[in-house]
Order: sequence, then structure tokens, then C-alpha cells
Amino acid sequence: MPFTKTRAHNEFRSDTFTVPTPSVLAAGMASTTTLGDAVYNEDQTTLALEAKVAAITGKESGLFAVSGTLSNQIAIRTHLLQPPHSVLCDHRSHIYIDEAGGLATLSQAMVSPVRPTNGIYVTLEDLIENYIPDHGDIHLAPTKVVSLENTCNGIVMPLDEIKRISAWCKEEGLKLHLDGARLWNAHVATGISMREYCSYFDSISLCLSKSLGAPVGSVLVGTKQFTCKANHFKKQNGGGIRQSGILTAMASVAIDENLPQLAVAQAYAKDMERFLEQHQIALEWPVHTNFVFIDTKKMKMSTDLLEELGKKYDVNLMGNRIAFHFQNSPEAVENVKKAVLECYQDSLTNPYDVRGALRTYKIDN
Ligand SMILES: Cc1ncc(COP(=O)(O)O)c(C=O)c1O
Repeated sequence: MPFTKTRAHNEFRSDTFTVPTPSVLAAGMASTTTLGDAVYNEDQTTLALEAKVAAITGKESGLFAVSGTLSNQIAIRTHLLQPPHSVLCDHRSHIYIDEAGGLATLSQAMVSPVRPTNGIYVTLEDLIENYIPDHGDIHLAPTKVVSLENTCNGIVMPLDEIKRISAWCKEEGLKLHLDGARLWNAHVATGISMREYCSYFDSISLCLSKSLGAPVGSVLVGTKQFTCKANHFKKQNGGGIRQSGILTAMASVAIDENLPQLAVAQAYAKDMERFLEQHQIALEWPVHTNFVFIDTKKMKMSTDLLEELGKKYDVNLMGNRIAFHFQNSPEAVENVKKAVLECYQDSLTNPYDVRGALRTYKIDN
């Protein structure tokens, strides 16, 4: 496919910066796009997208939501019935760190954050170590939901580990949710079908506006009974969208046309990994998909300087993560390398000590 330069060509802060392609935009305005009220379940385009994603994932039902945060939070709220209760998840999970404390406010849930002992992904043994069974101890908030994230920081979780965790959750009567914001990326990297991945989970939230280039939204899938209840919480939280056909028509084309393009972003990330290895610049996590995390703490590199150097080379950078997507231009990728190298060279004479955890997002108010 010929490369079209858009405003996203030099954006490396996140894969959410992808912009709708002309055909995605056109779908929103097409005469076939329906304008029914989706709150009343009367919009055919929205119903069609929900059915399409349910079919891709092998689930009974889908629910379009305005964001990944909303679909994750209403999913967990639906699974959890009555507090005290807790959610078991990786300590790096978006649901725990980056959803504004939603689990505490919407679900009144405690979180048991788990550190993977292998340093890369959580295993069944890690979860068991942090599991709070509902054995009648009135001091505790029993685990009711396990939530995994795939990809997590761009890392693909091995299917065998997912199978073991899923079997254990069934034995223990726990619900298993997947934040599959970027499950598409795992699918493209491994060739494992979306249906196979999703078969091990009770609910999955899939994002449409990360990497794929839809302007808005995510789809939550599960049983019909589950998505009906989740829809109740979606409405309660102001997530009812009226003429959502305009958005879902665009999302549908984004899936059809841009899913294969995720391989382009993954090739950029692999190229960047080789470049960093060549210059002995350490990675924070292995590169499996479209994200490259530089271990700026270990390398004593300043992320503020990296962002400044990004401006010098006309690329937008944020923190220690370089997020690739299919709309990056090869020229901009080369400019990122220049900024990274200059930042690294500076660290050799001006080592920078980082205090506290590195955070993904930096948003000026
Ligand atoms: C892994 C993961 N889950 C969920 C979300 C939330 O998506 P949204 O920004 O649409 O709320 C994000 C956002 O980047 C994410 O990275």
C-alpha cells in the first residue's frame, strides 16, 4: 500500500495518535451508514459492528463503548457483585494504574497487584501467590475477578500461560477479564486467532482507536446476558451514544483495512530494537509488538531531554516508550534514532538519576 503522510507520521507518544484514513472517514458519511438511536438499540450500523466483533472473537455478544477505559471498567463492574471484593492483576495493568482509580469508585474493589517473577508476564503461580480465596475470613476482600492484559507494555502473553490461568479461574469460580486493547497486535505478531485467544476469557475489551486508526471506541464482548448488564453500567456512566453509526461505520472499515497494517508498526519496533542493541542502549521490556521501552533509568538518560531532542528532530516523544503505528513515516523513524542516540551520548557525560516510577502518560493541563 503506498504511504500517505498524515499528521500522525511523526507521532511516537502512542498508537492512539493514528488518524482516520480517507476510506475510514468516508464510511462515517456514507449513505449506507444508519443514523438510528443506539441507546434504544435501533442503530443497524452499530449492531452490525457489535455482531462483527462478537463473530471475530467467537463470543455471543458485543457492546460498543466510547473508550477502552469505559469498556474495561463496566466489564469489571458487571463481574463484581457485592463488596468486599478484589481484583487480581499485573501491577502494570492499565485498569489499575491508568484508569483514574475507576476500580475503587465504580466497583468499590480492592486490587491485588502482582509483580511477574519472570520480570515479563504474570504466571499462574504469581497469581496463586496473591490470591485471596473466599474462605470465610472476614478480614479479607476475596478475589472475584482476575484481569489480564495482552499485550501488556507491548509484551505478548504466552497462550499456554493463558490456558493454565483460565482453567484455574474456572476451578476457583473466578471471572477472567482481558484488557485486550491491543489483542489485535498480539494476534498479528503470533498468528494465533482472536477467537482462540478470546475463548479463554469471560469478557474481553478490544480497542478500535489504538493502532487500527478508528477515531473512537472499543467493543466489549462476552455473553449476551453479560453485555446487557454492562450496557446498564455504560448508560449509568454517561456512555450512551445516540447516532453512533457514524463512529461504528468508521471502526468497521478500520478493522477491515488496517488490521494487516499492524505488521508495519511491529517491523519498525524490531528495527528500533536492533538499533538500540547495536548501541548498547538497554530495553526495559522485550520488544514483541509495536512498543519499545528504553530503560532510561538504568541508562541514566533523561526523558525530558529525549522529548526536547524529539522537538529538534521533528518527532513527538513521551517518556521512555516509543510507540510505533502504521502511519509513522520511515523518515520520522530515522529521526527518532537520532534523538535517542544524542540523548544517550549526553547521559555519558551528564548521567541523570530518576527518582520514583516511570509513568507512561504526560499530559499538560
Ligand atoms: C492497555 C490499555 N487498556 C485500556 C486503555 C484505555 O483506552 P482509552 O484511552 O480508549 O480509554 C489503554 C489506553 O491507552 C491501554 O493502553
